[in-house]
Amino acid sequence: MSSKVPPIILNNGVEMPQLGFGVWQVPDDEAETAVATALQAGYRSIDTAAVYGNEEGTGRAIAACGLPREELFVTTKLWNSDQGYDSTLRAFDASMEKLGLDYLDLYLIHWPRPAEGQYVDTYKAFEKLHADGRIRAIGVSNFLPEHLRRLMDETSVIPAVNQIELHPHLQQHASREFHAAQGIATEAWSPLGQGKGLLEVPAIVAIAQKHGRTPAQIVLRWHVQLGNIVIPKSVTPSRIKENIEVFDFELDTEDLAAISALNEDRRLGPDPAVFS
Ligand SMILES: NC(=O)c1ccc[n+]([C@@H]2O[C@H](COP(=O)([O-])OP(=O)(O)OC[C@H]3O[C@@H](n4cnc5c(N)ncnc54)[C@H](OP(=O)(O)O)[C@@H]3O)[C@@H](O)[C@H]2O)c1
Repeated sequence: MSSKVPPIILNNGVEMPQLGFGVWQVPDDEAETAVATALQAGYRSIDTAAVYGNEEGTGRAIAACGLPREELFVTTKLWNSDQGYDSTLRAFDASMEKLGLDYLDLYLIHWPRPAEGQYVDTYKAFEKLHADGRIRAIGVSNFLPEHLRRLMDETSVIPAVNQIELHPHLQQHASREFHAAQGIATEAWSPLGQGKGLLEVPAIVAIAQKHGRTPAQIVLRWHVQLGNIVIPKSVTPSRIKENIEVFDFELDTEDLAAISALNEDRRLGPDPAVFS
């Protein structure tokens, strides 16, 4: 099946599908089946990371899928312990070996770790890999505006993407505004709030009933209408299919306002200012 997901044009002209498939917490031996199911359902963008331990399973699904490489968009992330210029170059090679790819679409610094002070050197290695044609776009994850400011002051390639925790309980207004002003795409991790309480919130359930959709589809559609890139994760085939069916209906201003009212500035994950 061909993809129904529209692209977001990144700041260097590269096209990235607005909705992709996340594989955090999918064991390596289950990643191949999950990614294959997603590709079959029409996903073309896959989000993994060195620390997820499933780059090999992800790579096996990519190798077996029969789709032309240029139709796929693969993201992986450099783990914290590999930050630093030389260690980044080595970690990139190790990830590529596991994924079985000869170029990568998007490479992200997983966390800024500001106390360690290595993200600028790390990013300079990203710039080299980008200049060498081994990565189509480079970016970061979990960077606060202050980290992005420093990075942009001390390096030359503006990050294409900042992947941050973002869902209706943590709407990230300051970061989203900063990204928009700088031409950085906002990518939402845990877009479904990890699938727990958020999908039972009465306001979301009511909007789902109104549109004849599921709560997950309502939350994903909210992200899409905000302009976020989203990467929902599921190992359940029916949910994998359901989560990509969000491009044939629209939330109205009342729905959007009701979801905006759910913001609690509440993180599920660590605080990027201190996490290391
Ligand atoms: N950069 C970072 O630091 C960072 C951090 C966290 C995550 N991420 C990325 O973001 C991706 C997504 O985030 P996430 O995995 O934390 O959480 P998520 O996508 O918000 O939620 C995933 C959870 O929701 C459930 N779910 C999925 N679709 C559903 C549906 N239609 N109805 C009901 N439940 C549903 C899944 O269950 P089943 O799988 O059992 O179906 C799973 O437990 C990750 O996989 C990873 O690629 C990045």
